Amino acid sequence: MQNKMDVLLGLQWGDEGKGKIVDFLAPKYNVVARFQGGPNAGHTLEFDGIKHVLHQIPSGIFRNDIINIIGNGVVLDPVIFKKEVEALDKYNIDVRANLFVSKKTQLILPTHRLLDAAYEEAKGKKKIGSTLKGIGPTYQDKVARQGLRVGDILSESFKKKYNKLVEKHLEILSHYNTEYNLEAVESEFFNAIEFLKTFDLIEGEYKINSELSAGSKILAEGAQGSLLDIDFGSYPYVTSSNTTTSGACSGLGVAPNNIGEVYGIFKAYCTRVGGGPFPTELFDEDGARMQKEGNEFGATTGRPRRCGWIDLPALKYTIMINGVTQLFMMKADVLSIFKTIKVCTHYKLPDGTVSDIFPYEIVDQEIEPVYKELPGWNIAIDKIDEFDALPEELKSYIQFLENELKVPINIISLGPDRTQTIMRNGVLA
Ligand code: GDP
Ligand code: IMO
Ligand code: MG
Repeated sequence: MQNKMDVLLGLQWGDEGKGKIVDFLAPKYNVVARFQGGPNAGHTLEFDGIKHVLHQIPSGIFRNDIINIIGNGVVLDPVIFKKEVEALDKYNIDVRANLFVSKKTQLILPTHRLLDAAYEEAKGKKKIGSTLKGIGPTYQDKVARQGLRVGDILSESFKKKYNKLVEKHLEILSHYNTEYNLEAVESEFFNAIEFLKTFDLIEGEYKINSELSAGSKILAEGAQGSLLDIDFGSYPYVTSSNTTTSGACSGLGVAPNNIGEVYGIFKAYCTRVGGGPFPTELFDEDGARMQKEGNEFGATTGRPRRCGWIDLPALKYTIMINGVTQLFMMKADVLSIFKTIKVCTHYKLPDGTVSDIFPYEIVDQEIEPVYKELPGWNIAIDKIDEFDALPEELKSYIQFLENELKVPINIISLGPDRTQTIMRNGVLA
C-alpha cells in the first residue's frame, strides 16, 4: 500500500518545539527524516528526567526500530555529527543501525565556517545573527555547483576535490580580516570524515520512496521555521534553505502528490533569535518575564531569544505557504504568568493601512501590531493531562486561534517533557 509522507515544520522563527513533538509522534512512524538545514538547528527532547539536544540527527533516534534519514537537502558538518553520535553512545542507542545519510547531502567544510564568520563580521550592524555554523556558505557552494557531497568522501579523489574548493575559499578569505589556524580544524575534519564513512551512506530518495511504496509511515522533520525560509521569510534575515513544505519534497526526493498531513507547529506566543524584523517583539517587563518563564535561550548558541505576543498575520501566511492541515500549539504553560493575553490580529503600516497580510516591506517598514486582548488563565497548567480539564480561558484562546487560522489545533503542549502533551481530535488515530 503506497503511503504518503507527513511533514512537521515550524511556522514562526524556529525553536517552536519541533524536536519534542517529533520524538512524541515518532512511535507512530517507521521513518523520521531531516530535509534541510544543518547544525544551525537545535532540537530539544526531554524524557525520563534527561534533556537531549539534537542538531543534525533526526529526533526519532531515541525510539527503537525507527529508521532515521539525513536527506539530500541537509548540509552536514561531519565534526558535529561525530560529536552527536558519541553523545548518544552513552545511552546505548544503536545509532549505526538506525541512521542513514544520503550521499547527496552537502558537506560543511571548516572553511565554510570561517567564511560565515567573515561575511557576518563584514555586515556590521546589518548582520543576520547567523549561528556561524557555515550554513550560508555551504548552500552557496551547492547552488554554485561546486559543493562537496557525502558521496564524494568515498571517492579516491576526495582530498583533491577538497583542496580545490578550500583554495577558492582561502582566496575569498584573503580579502577579509580573518585569522585562522586551518591545520588543527582540518585534522579534526578528516578524522570525522573517516568516522562518517562507517555509516550507511545511501541513495536517500530511493530508500524513502521504496519505504513509502512498502507502506511505511514517514515523518519529515523540519528545521528552523517558515519565517526563516530563503524565499518566503523576512529576507535577508533568513536562513539559506527552504524550510517550508516544498523543501521536504526537494530535500528528500518525495513528489508533491506524496505529501500527506502537514503539521504546523507554533508557540502560544512568539520568539526570534538573531537579527531581523519581529513586529510583536516586547521590550518591556512582559517580554522579560516571557523569556524567563519560557527559558528562551537558544539550544545551539545559548543566545537569549527575543520574545513577543503571537502574530496572526505571520501565522496565516505560513499556514498558506505550507498547506498546513493540523496545528500544534506549544508552551501554553508559559503564558500562565499573564492575567491578559494579547494576540496580534493585524498590522498597521506607516501609511495607515491596516491589513492581515505579511508584507514584502516587513524588513524596511515600521509595522505596528494591532492587538486584541483576551483574558488569561493565570494558573499553573503544566500537570493537566486532558483537554477538558484545561481552564476555560485557555480553551477560549484555542477556539479564537482556530477561528482565525481556520485549521484545527490538535496538540497542546504544556511543558518540555514528552508526557506534557495533550492530543485532540484523534490526531494519532
Ligand atoms: P525546536 O528547535 O523547534 O526543536 O525547539 P527548541 O528545542 O530549540 O526550543 C524549544 C524549547 O522549549 C526547548 O527548550 C524545549 O524543551 C522547550 N519546550 C518544548 N515544548 C514546551 C512546552 O510546551 N512548554 C515549555 N515550558 N517548554 C517547552
Ligand atoms: P531550529 O531548527 C532559531 C536563525 C539564526 C539567524 C538566521 C540565519 O532549532 O528551530 P544561519 O546559521 O542559518 O545562517 O542563521 O536563522 N536560525 C535559527 N533560529 N532556530 C533555528 O533552528 C535556527 N537556525 C537558524 O539565529 O538569525
Ligand atoms: Mg531549536
